[in-house]
Parts: sequence; C-alpha cells; structure tokens
Amino acid sequence: FQQALIGNRNMEDTNKFLTKFKGCYFANIQLNLEMLENLDDFEIRDDDVFIITYPKSGTIWFQQILCLIYFEEHRKGIGNLETVERIPFIEYNPQKVDFAERPSPRLFVTHIPCYLVPRGLKNKKAKVIYIYRNPKDVMCSFFHFSKELTPSSTDNFVEFMKLFLEGEVVGSLWFDHIKGWYEHKSLFNIQFLMYEEMKKDLRGSVLKVCKFLGKELSEEDLDAVVRQATFENMKNDPRANYDDKLKTCFGIQKKGHFFRKGTIGDWKNHMTAEQNEKFDKIFQTEMKDIPLKFIWDMN
Ligand code: A3P
Repeated sequence: FQQALIGNRNMEDTNKFLTKFKGCYFANIQLNLEMLENLDDFEIRDDDVFIITYPKSGTIWFQQILCLIYFEEHRKGIGNLETVERIPFIEYNPQKVDFAERPSPRLFVTHIPCYLVPRGLKNKKAKVIYIYRNPKDVMCSFFHFSKELTPSSTDNFVEFMKLFLEGEVVGSLWFDHIKGWYEHKSLFNIQFLMYEEMKKDLRGSVLKVCKFLGKELSEEDLDAVVRQATFENMKNDPRANYDDKLKTCFGIQKKGHFFRKGTIGDWKNHMTAEQNEKFDKIFQTEMKDIPLKFIWDMN
C-alpha cells in the first residue's frame, strides 16, 4: 500500500503534517494506514452508528451528543469513560482498539470521504449521521486549530485560505467531501444535520437524531442531553473536551484546545469583503447542484 501514499510532497512546510491516501489527505500523526487499507472489508453490524464529518464541523460536539443519547451513565455524569473512548475514530486509532471486539451498539467517528467507506455500510441498516457547517466558519476554525495545534501549519490566514480552497488540508476539499456524501446519500441510511441547526435549536436537533436512531428519551433525559452538550459545559468537562487526550490520542504536542468560540459567523471577523466574494463565487459554482439547506448567516 505504499503506492497509495503520496503525502509529504516536498511542497511547503504546511504539507508535512499530511498523508495522502487514495486521493484524500489525513493527518499523518497517529494515522492507522492499515485500517484505511482494509476499510472496504470492515465488518459492519446493523446497529452500528457512524458520525461522518469534514474536520472542524462540530465532530466533538456531536460525539458528545451521541454519547449522551446512548450511555445513561454518561448522561448522569457517573461514568469516567471519555468521549473518544466511547466513540473512537476509525482512521486514528493509537490505542489499537480492536473494533471487532467492541460490544454493540458500536459508535464510530470518521472524516473519510464517501468513496473510502466500508462496503457494508451500503446495506442501509447501519446508521450514518453527516454533520456539516458553513465552510467559511469551518475554514476559520481550521485555521486556528492548525496554527495552534499542528506542528507545521501556517499562521497566515491568506495562505491558509489558499490551502483550504485547494484542498491541501486534512479531509482534502470541503466541496468534494460534502458533495461525495450528498450525491451518494441514497446508498446509505443517512441523516444530514447542520451545525447551525444544532446551535439554533439543540433540543430540536437532538429529538431529530433520536427519531432517526429509534431512541426515545424521557423529557428529563432530553433536558440532561441538551444541558451537557452546550459549549460551556463541554469546554469545562475533561471527559468531553479532549484536552488530556491531545497527546495520547492525536500525538499533538502543543497546548491548544478543540474548544475555541463555538459560534456562527466567526468568518466575518477573519475574511475581507474581497475574500468573501471570491469564496462565494467558488461556493456557488461548486454547490449549484446540491439542494442541501444552508442557513449560514443566521445569528
Ligand atoms: P470553533 O473553532 O469555530 O470554535 P471539530 O470537533 O469538528 O474539530 O469542530 C470544532 C469546532 O466545533 C470548534 O469551532 C469548536 O469550538 C466547536 N464546538 C465544539 N463543541 C461545541 C458546542 N458544544 N457548541 C458549539 N460549538 C462547538
């Protein structure tokens, strides 16, 4: 599988952090290439649930929500398992967890593009939840995350925007990621959910997800999920905020945080009118055939 590796392309320092596998960039730290290589044959159970995201779209947030829905002791705050242990990444598996040994229902998270997905997911029984977010906010969140947490990324926003729009980042091109999943949605048992929708109506979003998962929570439990999935709560909860896991799980040496602002529209504090216009033009061209609902500018 060495042939599949086209990473570290001697381009710029920013790319030292990346490994390209079958056309998609992954962070090379803690990357489980063997798993990626055998992903097609990954055995899927009917009650598996997969969270799929492009990076910086609310992955950890949704991991927390799913944990709270599924695990009562997580909801009651009496379990000491961290979110990442309850819902492991498929492609980054530093603890070498044997996924086949995990009890059902298994919950997973991944940034993989649609074309790398395990074949068994197309049986339409296992569930997939795709979380997406305004790509301008994704880009700004990604810029800070890369600058603060990755070893060799740029601290220049103009440069980062170029990398983002060329897909020279983990997850490759945002447009390709979302289009791949959306255009093939009929192959999966999939629910799309927007970060902005969760921000605007967390309770409604949790209910929507529960319905999709066939889970019924009491009003009291629903309240607990909503309460514990707020930005402030998660930021201060060591089980949810990944702060202690940065090194062991992601091999990150720097002292940044996954929790930055958690807001809608932070791009307005980063992008000039000209940059915004350029982005909008690309967005309109790339997304013209995708009738997904976008409510980006909502406050
Ligand atoms: P910002 O950098 O804009 O603050 P991911 O988990 O996919 O890496 O996404 C990280 C982004 O989700 C960060 O965005 C982070 O602050 C935001 N986030 C995490 N938990 C959140 C929550 N409970 N509510 C709102 N945003 C949240």
